[in-house]
Order: sequence, then C-alpha cells, then structure tokens
Amino acid sequence: MLTLGIETSCDDTGVAVIRNEREVLCELLSSQIKDHSRFGGVIPEFAARKHLENLLPLVDTALKECSINGKDLDLIAVTRGPGLMGSLIVGVMTARALSQSWGVPLIGVNHLEGHLFAPLVDAEDLKPPFLSLIVSGGHTEIIRVDDFGKYELLGQTRDDAAGEAYDKAARILGLKYPGGPEIDRLAKNGNSKAFNFPVPLKNTDKIEFSFSGLKTALLWQVKKLNDEGAVIPVNDLCASFQRSAVEALISKINLAVKITGIKKVSASGGVSANSTLRAALENDKHFRVWLPSLNRCTDNAVMIAMAGRNSWLRGSRDYCCDIVPDPSLHDF
Ligand code: KG4
Ligand code: ZN
Repeated sequence: MLTLGIETSCDDTGVAVIRNEREVLCELLSSQIKDHSRFGGVIPEFAARKHLENLLPLVDTALKECSINGKDLDLIAVTRGPGLMGSLIVGVMTARALSQSWGVPLIGVNHLEGHLFAPLVDAEDLKPPFLSLIVSGGHTEIIRVDDFGKYELLGQTRDDAAGEAYDKAARILGLKYPGGPEIDRLAKNGNSKAFNFPVPLKNTDKIEFSFSGLKTALLWQVKKLNDEGAVIPVNDLCASFQRSAVEALISKINLAVKITGIKKVSASGGVSANSTLRAALENDKHFRVWLPSLNRCTDNAVMIAMAGRNSWLRGSRDYCCDIVPDPSLHDF
C-alpha cells in the first residue's frame, strides 16, 4: 500500500511517500524558517504563498524519486487542522485536486494525531496502551492512547504551549526565531542553576501545564539585569529557563504515569527535539520512552502519511470534497 502524505499546517511544506505501515520511500521538506525568521515569527499570509509555490514541485519530485505515478498511489493523507487557515487551505485543496485527477482516495488527518505517530515510524515495538506527550509550538498535552483511534486527553496547557514559551523567551533574549533550537544550543554553555525560575504547577496533583509565568519570570529577570546595567548572561538564562521548562514537563509525565499506571511514554512535536528534555525522558526510571528521530520531531509528512493510513485501515472514510481545512480542529 502506497500512501502520499502532505503537511502544510504552519510554515513547513512536507511531502512523503510510505509503503505499507512505516517504510519511508521518500521524505521531502521545504522549510520556510529563513523567510520568517527576519520577521521574528511566522507571517500566515506569507506562509500560505510559500506553500503554494513549493507544494506541487515537491509532490512531483517525490513521485520521481520513488519512480511512481500519481495513479499508483493507494491513498493520499493530508493535514486538515489544526494550523494556520491559509496554509491548510493550500494543502487540502491541492490534495483534493490530486485525489480527483488521479482517482486516489483522500483522507484528512488531524495534525496532532500526526505528531502522535511520529515516534512510531522507527519503533515497531511501541504498541498501545501508552502515554503520548505532544509538545509543539501550538500544543502541550498528554494523551492516553488505549488504541489507535482511541485517545483520551489527560491534560494540556492552560496558556502558552511549551514551544511558544521557548519562542517568546528567545525573543526576550534577542535570539532569532524559532527560539527553541537557539535556547537549546546556548543552554549547553550555560549554568542551569544560575537563576531560580519557577517550575510551573510542579506540585499540583492535576495533569496540566502553564508556561506563561515562566516566560514572564525571565522577562522580569532580564529587566532587572538591564536596570542594574549588568551584562546579560544569555547562556545562563537559557540554561535556567530550560531547566524549569523541562522539569515542568517531566513532573507532569510522571504524574500521568502514576495516575494511569501506564509505563510506556512517547514524546513528539518540535520541543521533543530538545536535548535536555530528551535526556531527562531517557534517564527517567519510572517509564520507558520512545522518541522520534530529530527530523521528525518538528512538522513532517511521514507522520501524516502514517497516521492517515492507520486511520484509513481503521475504517475512517472521507468523501474527498467534504475534507475542509479546520484551523481549530482539536479532538481526534
Ligand atoms: O511541531 P512543530 O514543528 O510545529 C508545531 O506544530 O507547532 O514545533 C515547532 C516548535 C517551535 O516553537 C520551536 O521553537 C520548537 O518547536 N522547537 C524546540 C526545539 N526545536 C524546535 N524547542 C525546544 N528545543 C528544541 N531543540
Ligand atoms: Zn506540529
């Protein structure tokens, strides 16, 4: 079974072809990071135009690389939400047109279910039940996976997503967008105990996150240092911010493990590329963790193809023209 995956929910144009469950035949990504970083964040209108420019050439290249024709495909899987409206429209409408012209069925995929599948691409041994920590620029949540298609949201962030907090913290420190990789890099040369930032909601017995207070604590610390005329110790601030952010995530994963008794954990989404978070998850003795390869932590089309195929085989069917972009799609 050949599945073409298309991902355009934010600022990455992703196209991939997988054979059967997880054999990746081709995986292409056109990142717009350089285009957006000069604005300090993603400009939605600009992102949509870039997807329009990049998507069809990427599909063409992918088919050529796999030496297949569009009509050889068995399924097209496209992200239908959540995400930026303009970006989603380009992906969904292009996928609908390809589906109609090739006569290949189309399935709409929830981007979050896509992230949930990312660690499974390289892990045949990860089987439900497990807990999935999704930490990206738009979401921070823990999902109980009793089976594929049978998901329960155990908790999420009250305010900023973890990636969003990283991006805002980077902005406060004058670092470029996206902030997560920058803070991760600079934190390696910093002292994580230099500043004692709060670990949000650490001692509550509810599975929930909050990152906006942490970001504000960083803002006040930088302001104080500026008022004192001190040199801003960017590396120490990055390391200290990261220590608190990671501790908040790890404490709630442990709480979810304790409450559910499920000792298998996967993590995905852009922030799961974070080196401190990966090390903390891998070293935690309370559970076993599965992580995606670094290139599949952030948005990609392999995870969309895999999630779409799985959903198709579970019996989900969408009539091609009923698949519409849904920027605020949540439950899946
Ligand atoms: O999953 P993703 O590509 O897009 C969304 O669905 O949001 O995640 C992007 C987010 C950004 O906020 C970025 O700063 C963050 O993931 N990120 C990181 C790292 N790499 C990307 N955050 C912390 N450490 C990293 N190494
Ligand atoms: Zn994402």
